[in-house]
Amino acid sequence: MAEVAVTAPLPGGAIERLQERHSVRVRPPGPALAGRDMVEFVGQADALVCLLADRVAAEVFALCPRLKVVASYAVGVNNVDLEAARTSGVWVTNTPDVLTDAAADLAWVLILAVARRIGEGDGLVRSGGFTGWKPDLLLGTGLQGKTLGIVGMGRIGAAVARRAVGFGMKIAYHGRAPKPPDEALGAEFVAELDSLLARADVLSLHCPLTPQTRRLIDERRLRLLPHGAILVNTSRGEVLDEEALVRVLESGALAGAGLDVYEREPEVNPGLLGRMDVVLLPHLGSATRESRAAMAELVVDNVLAVLAGKPPLTPAVKPLVPRS
Ligand code: DGY
Repeated sequence: MAEVAVTAPLPGGAIERLQERHSVRVRPPGPALAGRDMVEFVGQADALVCLLADRVAAEVFALCPRLKVVASYAVGVNNVDLEAARTSGVWVTNTPDVLTDAAADLAWVLILAVARRIGEGDGLVRSGGFTGWKPDLLLGTGLQGKTLGIVGMGRIGAAVARRAVGFGMKIAYHGRAPKPPDEALGAEFVAELDSLLARADVLSLHCPLTPQTRRLIDERRLRLLPHGAILVNTSRGEVLDEEALVRVLESGALAGAGLDVYEREPEVNPGLLGRMDVVLLPHLGSATRESRAAMAELVVDNVLAVLAGKPPLTPAVKPLVPRS
């Protein structure tokens, strides 16, 4: 029987499947774990199940010699030192596919909410300010015929693109390389990010957070967007320079922005909080009952596989020489 450390309770009954075969410690809900607290929590565990806000640094791999797998309850694994895991012999797994549709739907929630000024409309009705239909009340931006620019055409980016077809949008994308035609959905590959920005009426960010993508969308790039464009970020907050976004919104260059993620999450830049042209969500990308339950099942399947000496179903990092 191996020992599994779980940093927070997960929805659904998946953890029970772990408990049937292994000794499982589940930490009560609390602030994210990092640094020495994480090292102490992992201790002599063979497997760690963590959330996206928990930090798994190199010291965890150095000081927790029994650890064989870090199973992250998220698709993004920027919170784990992946290179240290690889060289230390530890698998890192994530939860792709099972949250793709939920995340793509949420990007569209934000696109539509900003384009049609849903937050402002809701606020107007609740405050008693709706006094009747007017020809110019809260006019928004139509999407038909406009260009959706996607940064990062992975699973979620592609699912966002598929939905854009139904809204009659043209689709262009930037990524490391063009997709094969059957995966590109008729979307145009734009090799230069700056060129994509210059024509994106709606820009949706779907790239992973890496040293190369940290603050990828800075003030210079924000100012390349066409006047009245909409920016949506459901990837990771650090991909976008939030201070710069506030300045660009203040200048009136954009119609608005929709954010599900933040640079210093869960803190939100005060410059955004008072603005009615932004829609702010509390990192809800994968937050459907169906997705979160499926993510938990996948996390458990990955842990069970590694503890049985097999490769996990969805590895994010394959170790150089797996620990035994
Ligand atoms: C993830 O899984 O990385 C997403 O950010 C969850 O919404």
